[in-house]
Amino acid sequence: MIEQIQKIEEEITAFKFNIASDVEKFRIHFLGSKGLVKGLYALLREVPNQEKKMFGQKINDLRTAAENKLNGAHITSVKKEDHKVKEDITKPVGESSLGSHHPLSIIKREIVDIFNKIGFSISEGPEIEDDWHNFSALNFPPEHPARDMQDTFFIQKGEEEIALRTHTSSVQVRVMENNRPPIRTISPGRVYRNEAISARAHCFFHQVEGLYIDEDVSFADLKQTLLYFAKEMFGDKSEIRLRPSYFPFTEPSAEVDVSCTICNSKGCNVCKYTGWLEILGCGMVDPNVLNASGIDSKKYSGFAFGMGIERIAQLKYKVNDLRIYSENDIRFLNQFKSEG
Ligand code: PHE
Repeated sequence: MIEQIQKIEEEITAFKFNIASDVEKFRIHFLGSKGLVKGLYALLREVPNQEKKMFGQKINDLRTAAENKLNGAHITSVKKEDHKVKEDITKPVGESSLGSHHPLSIIKREIVDIFNKIGFSISEGPEIEDDWHNFSALNFPPEHPARDMQDTFFIQKGEEEIALRTHTSSVQVRVMENNRPPIRTISPGRVYRNEAISARAHCFFHQVEGLYIDEDVSFADLKQTLLYFAKEMFGDKSEIRLRPSYFPFTEPSAEVDVSCTICNSKGCNVCKYTGWLEILGCGMVDPNVLNASGIDSKKYSGFAFGMGIERIAQLKYKVNDLRIYSENDIRFLNQFKSEG
């Protein structure tokens, strides 16, 4: 009998709970109604009377030991089970649920940030515009070809003909009508032109307009501001050059090229072997525009510029087909996941 008790005691000590079901296995094996401890009690009947007390005590101790082990195991193994079933909430969330910013949004934000740093505020205007803000106030003569139905989407609103704005220069007028100088603002937004869709042209695209009006604003201020922009956007080594141009609302006007970022001005097919890339139009705000917008052109002067966001994005990301920006192809959009 004593040997049997010892053997069972050793067995209890040696038992290891590996999986949850081991707990129940242990209970049945040692403490169940047909278990080993119950079996010992049965044997007790055959033990001589004077030894009954001693053996009974030993079996009781054995039962207590088994019960203690069972209770302890219960706790640890349930904990184990918990770990297995539940998620580790300290783990980082899965990447697959993250979206990405649209490349045009990323570039727009970069442009806005660059001008914010030198004190330009942001202003926006409506995409559906009237003739005054899109053309007349901007010094477009009535016969100017840009008013032609081929370039502009017109909407008939009762008697009135209204248009989808063809450029963000319309916001210049709205800002000047509603604010007094000094004015320093940039206006990002979508614009529309009645063009056949191809790799190089689209019926809608995005621009950022810049406007600076104060006393004594000069062409040198304009050049310096644009040089700062080019260096921030395309790198410190960037240079700019201005070519004379024409816009009805600026005088003098210029088109601005930045040194080719792709070949470092050595000449490549993107810059057509000139070493320069056209990025924006600009000029000193025509006095007629200042007067039309309620600003005294004798006291104030200013500059304006306008650039295409798609154009800047094309140079930064080397995306040569404009159409891909609005096709919502997830394979294209996913490439911008880590940016912005
Ligand atoms: N609005 C002109 C365009 O769409 C760009 C421009 C803006 C030029 C401001 C001069 C000044 O092409």
